[in-house]
Amino acid sequence: MRETKNQVKTLATAIPRPFLKWVGGKARLLPEISKYYPTSHGTFYEPFVGGGAMYFSLKPKSAHINDLNLVLISAYKHIRDRLKPLIGSLQELELRYYSLPSLEEKKLFFLEQRETFNSLPNDSFEKTVLLIFLNKTCFNGMYRENSKGGFNVPFGKHEKPKICDEINLKRVSVSLQNTTITHSSYEEAVSTAKKNDFVYFDPPYHPLNPTSSFTSYQAGGFSEQDQVKLRDEFKRLSNIGCKVMLSNSDSPLINELYKEFNIRKIYAARSINSVGTKRGKILEVLITNY
Ligand SMILES: C[S@@+](CC[C@H](N)C(=O)[O-])C[C@H]1O[C@@H](n2cnc3c(N)ncnc32)[C@H](O)[C@@H]1O
Repeated sequence: MRETKNQVKTLATAIPRPFLKWVGGKARLLPEISKYYPTSHGTFYEPFVGGGAMYFSLKPKSAHINDLNLVLISAYKHIRDRLKPLIGSLQELELRYYSLPSLEEKKLFFLEQRETFNSLPNDSFEKTVLLIFLNKTCFNGMYRENSKGGFNVPFGKHEKPKICDEINLKRVSVSLQNTTITHSSYEEAVSTAKKNDFVYFDPPYHPLNPTSSFTSYQAGGFSEQDQVKLRDEFKRLSNIGCKVMLSNSDSPLINELYKEFNIRKIYAARSINSVGTKRGKILEVLITNY
């Protein structure tokens, strides 16, 4: 796994893609959102990092990423610090999966790995390996926990998914080297932000209607009161001179909470609903203080 000088150079400049598919992932919205990035800034903060689409595309010189999900944050740390054994374990799993002759056998293997995943400590290295394996082999490549915090997405029926994307994992690892990675609530994560730093908030969205499931992908969720507290944090950061950007749903509450800031409507092609006809474009908002 030793790289030539040229490969090292390419690794350092190449833009990584998110290594996981994550509900609420911003990849498809980036062309729209990137028009509103500040022209210059200090450290980049992404306290609800999820799959990290924005963080990876921005490739900031200095960054702090954070999430309340320990399984996810441990995966970022293991990719940064233990890339070689991680790639080895994923390659092994990929070989075993490909060698199974029928989808029925692949499904049994998937279910076995899912059970092991749920029995492992959230910060373990083995759990990161299985998180990536399950994300590539489950239905829709989603991460979803049930009320007891277990991963319960069904088998995806993929014959030969790419389980170990070695090149991308290397790029991810390289870009994480100069990044602070924490597992805490968003308030704590941004407590060190200073004047001119750029903070991007992508919280669980305020639901557009009571049946909307946008906030239920992680045990816990985010209440109306939490949205108000987040707005207060947005204001605090704004007052100390940070450049602050936030995504949320286009609901009356969010429009009211941020009315003193710049609110832009953004069209998002969401495929969160598995019923084909309900897919399509919905409006969300992008708020900035600059
Ligand atoms: C909408 S997702 C972020 C999506 C991400 N921007 C992407 O592109 O994939 C929201 C994230 O916030 C995390 N989260 C929920 N409540 C939190 C809190 N109080 N503090 C920090 N993170 C939280 C969830 O675990 C989830 O990963």
